[in-house]
Amino acid sequence: MKNTIKQNQNLTELNTLKLKSQASFFIKLTDLSELTFIRNYIKDKSCNYFVLGGGSNLIIPERYEGLVIHNRLMGINKIKEESDYVIVECQAGENWDNFVLHTLKNRWFGLENLSLIPGTVGAAPIQNIGAYGAESGEFIEYVRIFDMLDGEFKELSKDECSFSYRNSIFKASLNYIVTAVGFKLLKNSKLNTSYKDIALCMQKILNPTSLDLRDCVIDIRRKKLPDPNFIPNVGSFFQNPIILEEHAYKLKEQYSDLPIYKVSERAVKISAGWLIEKLGLKGYKDGNIGIYEKQALVLVNHGGATMKDILTFARKIKEQVKLAYNIDLVIEPVIKGAIN
Ligand code: EPU
Repeated sequence: MKNTIKQNQNLTELNTLKLKSQASFFIKLTDLSELTFIRNYIKDKSCNYFVLGGGSNLIIPERYEGLVIHNRLMGINKIKEESDYVIVECQAGENWDNFVLHTLKNRWFGLENLSLIPGTVGAAPIQNIGAYGAESGEFIEYVRIFDMLDGEFKELSKDECSFSYRNSIFKASLNYIVTAVGFKLLKNSKLNTSYKDIALCMQKILNPTSLDLRDCVIDIRRKKLPDPNFIPNVGSFFQNPIILEEHAYKLKEQYSDLPIYKVSERAVKISAGWLIEKLGLKGYKDGNIGIYEKQALVLVNHGGATMKDILTFARKIKEQVKLAYNIDLVIEPVIKGAIN
């Protein structure tokens, strides 16, 4: 047993919103054999717990009463190779973007549109990370988990993960600890330039490759999204709402430039960032929380904020959006623990 349980661990530097936070108990997970000890500890103490990856999609309280398990399981292995694809298994604690770069350098294609997303590989299936016309769930073949309920290691197939927009079985099954993710990646690159900004960037390049597409994604992200190392944030703070088509077209009568994306026969997705920007809130600041001036869907911590501060701010935004458009915005990052 390499790692021991620490008490009163400061989590401020371990969440990208830099919320002031402390956990009563904390352990680093670097080996699968430690999971049985961790499970027994949680059972003995009957305490709460949660898994922390990169902390880039998380809202945590000032004091978390329970055990925080910092997933640092590392390793990347090619499991299988066929004529046209490979199965690559990556341990959950690996940094997502390092993994994306590693796959592209090995000429395993598919994840390039998901470049530069902060966080760990283990977090990717949980909210089914997505960007620029791609979602991680499209490439996930299976997810390995440790089930805290019965103490068994299990493998979930892609179908069992129930991936949908920013959602999966893992958001509901809190007893599953993701230990590794298996990806099916192509040996011949098929560039996905469905997203307008990507297409525009790629047009400028002669015979573009997957690495060029990665560079385009990085360039677009850097222009629009704040780097959490300098401006604390968790990316999009709200999901893009999916609403009935008739509701959207009623809004369009009033707001002719409202962007609408069809997702099914009767439902459309609209841009939460657009809704917030239209309310004149881009760059708006209240206390230590603000809306990023280049992307209205991103909330930033201007320094010293707590969970309570950010959730109070978010509630006010939600109220304004509800009043103006009759739409209930849903907070995108995962909220842990009680508000205190
Ligand atoms: N828009 C505005 N004003 C804004 C922001 C957006 O008018 O301040 C409108 C524009 O019409 C723009 C459209 O919204 O063309 C889409 O904006 P953007 O490309 O910036 O994407 P998004 O819908 O705001 C989503 C994801 C991002 C992902 C991008 C790119 C969600 C909740 N967010 O944002 O994911 O990077 O698309 O694919 O789906 C994240 O989840 O943390 C995240 C950053």
